[in-house]
Amino acid sequence: MSAQVIDGKAFAAKVRDQVSEHVKLLKVEHGIVPGLAVVLVGEDPASQVYVRSKGKQTIEVGMHSEEHKLDIATSEADLLSIISRLNSDPAINGILVQLPLPKHLNEDLVINSIDPAKDVDGFHISNVGLLGTGQRSMVPCTPLGCLMMLREHFGSLSGKDAVIIGRSNIVGKPMAQLLLGDSCTVTVAHSKTKNLKQVVSHADVVVAAVGRAEMVPGDWIKPGAVVIDVGINRIPAPEKGEGKTKLVGDVDYDSCSKVAGAITPVPGGVGPMTIACLLANTLTATCRANGLTEPEGLTV
Ligand code: GUN
Repeated sequence: MSAQVIDGKAFAAKVRDQVSEHVKLLKVEHGIVPGLAVVLVGEDPASQVYVRSKGKQTIEVGMHSEEHKLDIATSEADLLSIISRLNSDPAINGILVQLPLPKHLNEDLVINSIDPAKDVDGFHISNVGLLGTGQRSMVPCTPLGCLMMLREHFGSLSGKDAVIIGRSNIVGKPMAQLLLGDSCTVTVAHSKTKNLKQVVSHADVVVAAVGRAEMVPGDWIKPGAVVIDVGINRIPAPEKGEGKTKLVGDVDYDSCSKVAGAITPVPGGVGPMTIACLLANTLTATCRANGLTEPEGLTV
């Protein structure tokens, strides 16, 4: 049996349509246009691609978009001063500082200088604490997208055994909190986990977020399990011609898709959901800032 392919691209388009509809209502009924500011320091090519894509999609759903592109040598004081201005700008409801930052900038300090109510990444320490204690927070976009796809697939996640491979602050840890919140039994595995194959082989849900190309083979997966692949790794693809490359996930798609019940592809799985959830978070932040009801299904 081959796995159902979870189409993240189509799902993300549906989320964007929902956001777009709600943005129209906000404008017509309240004269409000949600605004998202993205701050990029330096010229990392991958970050530039992400930031461009975020800006384009923000405009497509009818929001106000600002890009602040700063020189790689920008001082911490200057960056903090820009964030402070955005914090008090009424036209801005969401602020995202693209990571990673250049080495001379203290990432924690910078992230924690963002107004938690505008922290659409959900990385501010207040939002981390609120999520960890089951309180209303801004939820990190990638794990939020994974949760939406899992809820859509299962209906209820209650009682499922979930194994997350990877313990990053951006994906692994918030994913664990979200799955706990949905009453899964959660294991967070990482580079020091003993007998990873055995741990993974019990899971009804596997979320792979380690950043190692194709590291999870099909014979680790319980037949029928749902596999969510967060990895985006570029590897050589000599079969496509000399010097060519391709994108692969953290799971070996060919072998895992023969065993799993459902699986997200790379590309076209989790990736598109991340930006869709950023737009959903910007809408959520706007509704909260204005004391308006949040749209259903776009946050936890
Ligand atoms: N760099 C890679 N992923 C992310 C993300 O989700 N948010 C931000 N701000 N930077 C990133």
